[in-house]
Amino acid sequence: MSEKAQIGVTGLAVMGRNLARNFARHGHTVAVHNRSYSRTKELVEEFGDEGTFLPSESAEDFVASLERPRRVVIMVKAGKPTDAVIEEFAPLLEEGDMLIDAGNAHFLDTRRREAALKERGLHFVGTGVSGGEEGALHGPSIMPGGSVESYQALGPLLEDISAKVDGEPCCVHVGPDGAGHFVKMVHNGIEYADMQLIAEAYDLLRQVGGHTPSEIADVFRGWNEGRLGSYLIEITAEVLKQNDAATGKPFVDIVLDQAEQKGTGRWTVQAALDLGVPVSGIAESVFARALSGGADVRAAAREAGLPGPVATAGAHEGDLQADVEQALFASKIVAYAQGFQQIQAASKEYGWDIDPGAMAKIWRAGCIIRAKFLDFIKQAYDKSPELTTLLVDQYFLDAVSGAQDAWRRVVATAARQGIPAPGFASALAYYDGLRAERLPAALIQGQRDFFGAHTYHRVDKDGSFHTLWATDDRKEIDA
Ligand code: 6PG
Repeated sequence: MSEKAQIGVTGLAVMGRNLARNFARHGHTVAVHNRSYSRTKELVEEFGDEGTFLPSESAEDFVASLERPRRVVIMVKAGKPTDAVIEEFAPLLEEGDMLIDAGNAHFLDTRRREAALKERGLHFVGTGVSGGEEGALHGPSIMPGGSVESYQALGPLLEDISAKVDGEPCCVHVGPDGAGHFVKMVHNGIEYADMQLIAEAYDLLRQVGGHTPSEIADVFRGWNEGRLGSYLIEITAEVLKQNDAATGKPFVDIVLDQAEQKGTGRWTVQAALDLGVPVSGIAESVFARALSGGADVRAAAREAGLPGPVATAGAHEGDLQADVEQALFASKIVAYAQGFQQIQAASKEYGWDIDPGAMAKIWRAGCIIRAKFLDFIKQAYDKSPELTTLLVDQYFLDAVSGAQDAWRRVVATAARQGIPAPGFASALAYYDGLRAERLPAALIQGQRDFFGAHTYHRVDKDGSFHTLWATDDRKEIDA
């Protein structure tokens, strides 16, 4: 009998190709397939010496080259292309086989697909994969959803190719159906928030600190050695050090200041709105990208000469660099606290039983948001799996309380100097909102009751009440 592959990858653009190579480099025989055969051929020609690849031109041959239960990794564009590939392969598969969607699919699509394929006796495993092209090749962070049974057959292979921290894989069964893709989506939302906060820190150091991008790169390099140590801080220093070959100018000065997005950050916020979880840090970062990209609106505002201060170097009262580091760390904690709260809310809503500490654990390496402080998040959830918010864990409580004077100074400086810092400001507002004894929400309840008889609850007794606002005596009645 000819050799069979343990796993197959269909869709051999760079992510699929690198995942296939990663499996092969770990000693697995990998079946490979692509819509156009030239890509499959290229892969085997260029990287065939890295392991054993079984190339197939047709879907039928590809499926036939896999051992049972078949494990088919789909690495194509989210949306319709994924549905098309599923429809191509599902009829060729047999009971117990697995289709693994390793792209950035929307978790609701994953839920729909999982349910539909279950009816046909197949496992559909929506799997988050983070780490970009390099991660896919050298060890990504992997977030598989789907059934426990499918993880038993698939998990060991995924764990094998994942990033490791002290020998432990950055891969765990997240939960059933769409849980893996949901967690990957929130990972990306946090990634957006992280990036926005770093960008605000840079902007303040440049405009108020009066530093050059290269000097700021050195500041980030220094921060990377401390508690902010993370992949995104590390690459920020690299980007800021870069000079444009054509003009000799700093790279950041020749790039159009309009941030783009593929949509996972937006999905995170949309899902958070449905769950009623205030992920304000992630939302601000999505909106900040949208604002930056709104070239017409920005041009109109500039032409109209909307007045405001012009930032002056040296205007901060305090040690700007140290204060910004504090503001960045505190705001980052808020963003992660919000993201983890969203994961917990979804886990409850969909019955996923996600272990938040395990998510922190598998994000410690391989993925884009890998950071030193994820160890502390893991520890926080290990201590109290039901933690309502990370902010009340002692490590994070100490960090934000220690940061808050500096954090307030930074937000005040940004406001006074006319520098937009929506990430820092909204994180601080969230923090103050959480710790407030009384919020003005009581007034909002009054307004709602006034115009719509929407009723309110009282602080001193149970029940719902309505005030007869239109009457002279404005009597309160039970509602
Ligand atoms: C990852 C990344 C990746 C994502 C990019 C692009 O975890 O490897 O999150 O999945 O596609 O970061 O995101 P935007 O184009 O939306 O910025």
